[in-house]
Amino acid sequence: MHRKYLLFCLLGLMALVLAACSTTGEPGPAGPAGPAGPGGPAGPAGDAASVSAADLTCTECHNDTTLIVSKEAQFRERSVHGTGEAFERGESTSCAGCHGSEGAEARIEAGLLPHDPSVEGVTNVSPYSCRTCHDIHTTYTRADFSLTGDAAPAQMENTEGTFDGGFGNLCANCHQIRNELPAASGGEITFESNRFGTHHGVEAQMLLGEGGLMVSGSPSVHYGVENTCVTCHMGENRNHTYEPDVEYCQACHADLDTLDRNGVQTEIQTMLDEVRELLISAGIIDLELDPEGNRSVPGTYPEEVASAMWNYMFVLEDQSRGVHNPPFAKALLEQAKTALGG
Ligand code: HEC
Ligand code: HEC
Ligand code: HEC
Ligand code: HEC
Ligand code: HEC
Ligand code: HEC
Repeated sequence: MHRKYLLFCLLGLMALVLAACSTTGEPGPAGPAGPAGPGGPAGPAGDAASVSAADLTCTECHNDTTLIVSKEAQFRERSVHGTGEAFERGESTSCAGCHGSEGAEARIEAGLLPHDPSVEGVTNVSPYSCRTCHDIHTTYTRADFSLTGDAAPAQMENTEGTFDGGFGNLCANCHQIRNELPAASGGEITFESNRFGTHHGVEAQMLLGEGGLMVSGSPSVHYGVENTCVTCHMGENRNHTYEPDVEYCQACHADLDTLDRNGVQTEIQTMLDEVRELLISAGIIDLELDPEGNRSVPGTYPEEVASAMWNYMFVLEDQSRGVHNPPFAKALLEQAKTALGG
């Protein structure tokens, strides 16, 4: 017998003797735990042939296709969702509902507005990832590509409407007007910030035809496109660069070979340039304060002049140069031109 086991046997014997002696006195303390027992017998041989990779639901996504890799490359190299730095804004409570993965995902999943009181700034905020928009690693099956918040219709925070455009509802949660529309009093609008006008990303309201000042619009013909944003920005192949491609338009505009259909984008860009000059002449944009001309000089303005600034920023920040809602974009800029005497 090995010497170590011999020692254990002796110790065990001593413990028995001690236990016997103590029958008349106080019970002694429990002895030390014994050593681990020997391993059990080998189990029966497994039926290796019946378990294959196909039995692991992980392989519905992690497999020899480029399903994940291709989307990753589009997303991480060519979309500002993946490359942009605006996610860091998610550290702040007023921005976390849209910027940064954690705050935005939780908020959209719960179906809340961007500035719901429950939204808080995030410590160790991360950039958008597949998990922001998909339910990755929840059931561990292919079904986890379902969308965050199930693409439920998105109620607009600062205007009346609800965006109900299929998969595009996910986008509308973030791509909507962030700031309150100003109210006129006595025919005037006062603002104290040099950032008067809409924040970036106003596309949902542009499609809905709401959110302008002194202009009423109606839902765009393109609000009727199935899955709205997703069809024009991702196509049938669900490209994750989110760049519109004229091919995606061809389902409806058969021979279209430019996004500038019938010169609509050129026309809106020309109007934007004209209105900008008029805003500079009116002293509401001061290039010495801001060479880019996107900031406004705080003050009290006639309602139609302040509205012109708001409507100009709305069309500018929409960035589609009219495509999202051609007649509405035009009406907004016409209000501005008329108000500024152009
Ligand atoms: C719906 C498709 C899908 C299924 C099913 C799936 N995954 Fe993933 N998995 C992903 C995606 C998407 C990523 C993230 C890639 C990225 O963000 O870079 C990922 C990432 C990972 C990573 C890298 C580390 C991480 O968390 O980002 C590991 C490891 C992983 N998965 C293991 C598994 C295992 C194990 C299973 C099954 C139990 C599984 N996955 C099931 C889609 C899936
Ligand atoms: C969680 C919020 C959020 C969601 C959801 C979201 N976006 Fe974005 N999107 C952003 C932010 C923020 C940026 C700017 C990122 C940056 O610059 O860092 C952006 C940028 C973009 C851009 C590039 C704009 C430019 O200036 O080049 C496009 C196009 C875009 N988004 C389209 C979409 C579409 C289409 C969807 C739906 C499939 C979508 N987004 C969903 C927040 C979101
Ligand atoms: C309602 C959602 C929403 C909220 C809330 C929000 N943003 Fe954004 N923000 C967006 C979207 C969408 C974009 C991208 C717009 C685009 O490029 O068309 C964006 C873009 C930006 C950009 C430009 C990024 C770039 O790369 O050019 C900055 C800067 C920014 N946001 C700052 C902020 C700050 C600061 C806050 C908080 C005070 C905030 N945002 C709150 C939706 C939001
Ligand atoms: C900004 C939001 C957003 C982000 C981030 C995002 N996706 Fe998507 N993805 C979508 C939308 C919207 C669809 C279209 C929904 C559909 O077709 O079911 C989609 C569709 C897909 C599909 C096709 C769905 C299917 O069942 O075949 C795959 C695969 C996919 N995404 C993978 C990824 C991967 C991998 C990542 C991370 C690199 C990612 N997505 C990041 C919004 C996003
Ligand atoms: C009818 C097709 C169509 C629909 C629907 C649509 N877009 Fe666009 N979008 C465009 C086109 C075309 C442009 C201009 C692209 C250009 O000129 O390079 C654009 C521009 C943009 C831009 C500016 C950045 C860029 O890539 O030029 C953003 C951001 C954007 N769209 C977001 C959205 C969101 C969010 C929705 C849904 C709420 C949406 N779009 C719906 C076609 C569409
Ligand atoms: C689901 C169908 C559908 C898709 C997809 C679609 N459109 Fe349209 N679009 C329409 C309809 C319908 C009209 C109104 C009738 C018309 O002008 O043909 C319209 C009108 C327009 C107009 C304004 C009318 C004019 O003066 O030309 C422009 C510009 C336009 N589309 C551009 C685009 C672009 C660019 C894309 C792709 C990014 C696109 N559309 C994708 C259906 C669609």
